[in-house]
Amino acid sequence: MERVYRVVCPGSFDPVTNGHLDIIGRAAGLYDEVVVAVLINVTKQGLFTVDERVEMLNEVTRRYGNVRVEKFHGLLVDFCAANGISAVIKGLRAVSDFEYEMQMAQMNYRMAKVETLFMTTNPLYSFLRSSLVKEIAKYGGDVSGLVPELVLGRLRERLAQESPPGQE
Ligand code: PNS
Repeated sequence: MERVYRVVCPGSFDPVTNGHLDIIGRAAGLYDEVVVAVLINVTKQGLFTVDERVEMLNEVTRRYGNVRVEKFHGLLVDFCAANGISAVIKGLRAVSDFEYEMQMAQMNYRMAKVETLFMTTNPLYSFLRSSLVKEIAKYGGDVSGLVPELVLGRLRERLAQESPPGQE
C-alpha cells in the first residue's frame, strides 16, 4: 500500500494569521496532506467560536488542494492516532517559543512516539501572534497584512459588535 505523508498543524487559530498560513502553505508543499487541527478548549472562551475558526481556515486554505481542517478536543496524540498522523508541524518564531514547544514535543513523543517538526517562521511574521492581532484590532490599530483579508473583515465585524465606540 502506498504510504501517505500526513502532518498535523495544531493550534487555537483565534483567528488564523498570515504567520499560520505561511507555515500551513509551506507544509502543504512538503507533505501529501496537512491536517489543520483546531483545539476545542472548554476552559478558554475565544473571540471566535471553534466553528467560525474552522470556517475561516477552510476559506483561506482552499487554494491548497491538500489541506484539511478539523477540530479536536483532548490530547493531540489521540487525534493523531485516530487520523493516521505520525508527525506534528509547528512554526517557531523566536527562542522564546522554544522551551514550551520543546516540552510539548518531547511529551508527545514520550506518550505516543508522535514526532514534532519545527519550521522557522518567515521573518516577516516573527512577531505575529493571534492575541496581539486581537488586542491591536480591538483598539482600532491596523492589522492589515497580518491576517488574511477575510479575517480582517471578520475581526472588524466581531469587534464592532463587542464594543461599540465609547462603550468600553
Ligand atoms: O495555538 P496554541 O494555543 O499555541 O496551540 C497549542 C496546542 C493546541 C498545540 C496544544 O495546546 C495542544 O496540543 N493541546 C491539546 C492537548 C494536549 O495534547 N496536551 C498535551 C501536550 S504535550
